[in-house]
Amino acid sequence: MREARLGISRQALHHNLRRVREAAPYARVLSMVKADAYGHGAALVAETLAESDGFGVAFLEEALALRAAGIRQPVSILEGVFSELEMFEAVRQGFSVVVHQEEQIRFLENCRLTGPVDVWLKIDTGMHRLGFSPEAAVMAFRRIRAARLTGSIGLLTHFAAADELDSPQTEKQIGRFRALQQVLGRAGELPLPDSLANSAGILAWPASHGAWVRPGIMLYGCSPFAERTAEELGLRPVMTLTSRLIAVRTLKKGEPVGYGATWVAERDTRIGVVAIGYGDGYPRHARNGTPVLVEGHCVPLVGRVSMDMVTVDLGSLPVGVGARCVLWGDGLSADVVAAHAGTISYELLCKVTSRVMREVW
Ligand SMILES: Cc1ncc(COP(=O)(O)O)c(C=O)c1O
Repeated sequence: MREARLGISRQALHHNLRRVREAAPYARVLSMVKADAYGHGAALVAETLAESDGFGVAFLEEALALRAAGIRQPVSILEGVFSELEMFEAVRQGFSVVVHQEEQIRFLENCRLTGPVDVWLKIDTGMHRLGFSPEAAVMAFRRIRAARLTGSIGLLTHFAAADELDSPQTEKQIGRFRALQQVLGRAGELPLPDSLANSAGILAWPASHGAWVRPGIMLYGCSPFAERTAEELGLRPVMTLTSRLIAVRTLKKGEPVGYGATWVAERDTRIGVVAIGYGDGYPRHARNGTPVLVEGHCVPLVGRVSMDMVTVDLGSLPVGVGARCVLWGDGLSADVVAAHAGTISYELLCKVTSRVMREVW
């Protein structure tokens, strides 16, 4: 049997949530479990992180899947709903909804249920993707509050560059957000629950913490920053992708390996064939030199990634068929592999395919 496996560590999840609480001790935690909990399994993660104060998903179907799995904590839908019917369902299920555009206010106003539904009013403080401008937000706020459905209203924004520690962008965004809070305060509104921080905000921008933080990648043990490793941040990898050597070949100096013959041995060497490929979610663009751990030793990937296999230069490492290989996770951060593949760990975690066997550790 082919031995490609995806191990998920519940202990690492617990540990990383503790890191969130240490970094943002006064905030409530909305653990982000969208995209099947960044590929880890939304139900498994939500059940493991039951002490979260709530869960964040992208859209209604993801929220419904959590309920179907027996998750009873508050769930916030971060893109909000796409129709009146979806608003009806969200209200019926007790989900909190983000409202980021006028159309969604109309869904609230027209919904046949009487609520209450908790709303996050999304403010565009500079990301320019979703949300009301601070100027438009005051009117939006009034309409939302007037809708008979509305329960509590919170203010939410999202950072464009919180991972860039030298960029002035995050301070500007925090400033615009706080200014809007003051405008609403002067207009007699009580302080509203607020939520600004993703993982990078939690770790690097304490002024952004507010009432609720929204950690994603740090819960899964990866770093949101290019210049700081997950280990330095005290995070532990949750997902470990492993497989085994299924062949070991001897190559003479000058002989190529793999499709396109893109890598050529510079000396006589031994090549290990690992049973993992882009059909499993290993990134096809991983370059020569991408690290792979074989029985705990770091060796370079060589040649192109195929659908079912990758090849590594074993040199004189005394290993044979059956040797355990870690593609990322325990001992080899997905951040490092992602950097060699020209992407970010988020993408690697999300893309492991269903043919890889899953195990919970
Ligand atoms: C609105 C929102 N909040 C929070 C997060 C979590 O971000 P991160 O995984 O960088 O912590 C995301 C993820 O993309 C998001 O879209």
